[in-house]
Amino acid sequence: MGQDKQKSVRGFSKLSKTDKIRWIAENFFKEPELVKKELISFWHPNADQQKILDGFSENTLSNFMLPYGVAPNFIINDKTYCVPMVIEESSVVAAASSAAKFWSNKGGFKTEIIGTTKIGQVHFTWQGDISKLRKVFPELKEKLLEDTSHITANMRKRGGGILDIELLDLNHLETDYFQLKVSFETCDSMGANFINSNLEAFGKTLSQFLATHPVFEGEEKNVTIIMAILSNFTPDCLVRASVECPIAELGDFEGMSANVFASKFKKAVTIARIDPYRATTHNKGIFNGIDAVVLATANDFRAIESCGHAYASKDGQYRSLSQCSLENGIFKFWLDIPLAVGTVGGLTRLHPMANRSLEMLGNPTARELMGIIASVGLAQNFAALKSLVTTGIQKGHMKMHLLNILNHMEANENETAQAVIYFEKNMVSFSSVRDFIVSIRENKTIPTIK
Ligand code: HMG
Repeated sequence: MGQDKQKSVRGFSKLSKTDKIRWIAENFFKEPELVKKELISFWHPNADQQKILDGFSENTLSNFMLPYGVAPNFIINDKTYCVPMVIEESSVVAAASSAAKFWSNKGGFKTEIIGTTKIGQVHFTWQGDISKLRKVFPELKEKLLEDTSHITANMRKRGGGILDIELLDLNHLETDYFQLKVSFETCDSMGANFINSNLEAFGKTLSQFLATHPVFEGEEKNVTIIMAILSNFTPDCLVRASVECPIAELGDFEGMSANVFASKFKKAVTIARIDPYRATTHNKGIFNGIDAVVLATANDFRAIESCGHAYASKDGQYRSLSQCSLENGIFKFWLDIPLAVGTVGGLTRLHPMANRSLEMLGNPTARELMGIIASVGLAQNFAALKSLVTTGIQKGHMKMHLLNILNHMEANENETAQAVIYFEKNMVSFSSVRDFIVSIRENKTIPTIK
């Protein structure tokens, strides 16, 4: 108890970065000097760049590194992309690349933007007469738009802004509860700040309107704005990515005919449509790809994930986000996913690597980026299912994971080179790699690999 007390601190946020590091190192680690050096060793060598990174968050001590990779050969709407991916899990980039290569001579990926509308809400309680409010709602709407015209001016010039404002009476769910449900077009930005600024201004206008409009004269001035905030559930900011080809063109898979493959593949997707346990893993595979590109472009992966999973449950049961059909000899596989992403604003241009990611993608619009991200999600899902219904997942995944196991075993360069050759033809598992390394170490027969 006494020891734990020492570990709490007041005013930590006001300490300098060096003092924060010292305090953490001295209070939580057995080798504080080593830890201090380690944390500092991950600082960016350019102090200006480090300052930018520090500014993204709070109480920053250092940087947390993740691999930045690329998946080449993505043909999307007849354009070839090399897609940047930030992910710590082995085999994800390889799987996306392999599916991109697979579909590159079969027409590639096609995408369709179904909508780009985003949603925000002003939640309020009020004991007034809703029929009166409905009557004067057009007047309120006009006032809301007028009072936010300075906030929306630039977005309107770009073709976006506030699309609609609805008044929802939700008294049947919660006493005195009403809502302004607002839809927005935010063009190339994800739009969170724009939406929230408008909603907060709406809250003020709404309070004033209800308190001062003559139609409510004599009634109690009892409106309470509970909160004004965007919704991360954006089912109408939706993209479809798809691939298709004649079943025969799928080719053979390790001795499995194209027909058998296609029908096993479709069955695997159907199972993920009906069984939530399987759907969760299936969608995790899709998000392997999606999150990696969302991270590489410094978009908000928490928003994308929460929205994707809400969308997967939109009919009351959690289901696979992708679907498959086999009709008239054609294999078709597609993914509908809401993706509220931006290519301007937020950290997209501020993060030096995200800026490079967008450049690598040819500085896409938000709509184009939605298509790229959805295609990578679909590619990832295709590669995972292809492995699952043919060889099983472990063969390819463990092949890629081999280096992690070797690093864990502190294998030297020679041992690693031997292991890579040996495991080309042998099954990788933690114990098989450990046994292999132990055996070559014990035999002391480590030939030099040329
Ligand atoms: P393979 O057939 O052994 O690969 O597949 P290959 O050596 O024949 O190479 C074919 C292509 O794959 C390459 O073409 C690359 O595009 C790519 P090339 O570059 O030679 O012209 N590729 C690589 N790219 C980069 N680095 C590499 C590399 N190796 C191949 N080292 C592969 C191997 C891993 C691709 C395959 O087995 C596969 O796709 N497996 C699926 C892996 C997977 O889905 N991993 C995700 C983690 S598991 C998970 O979390 C999700 C899951 O549970 C979801 C679900 O259940 O649905 C599975």
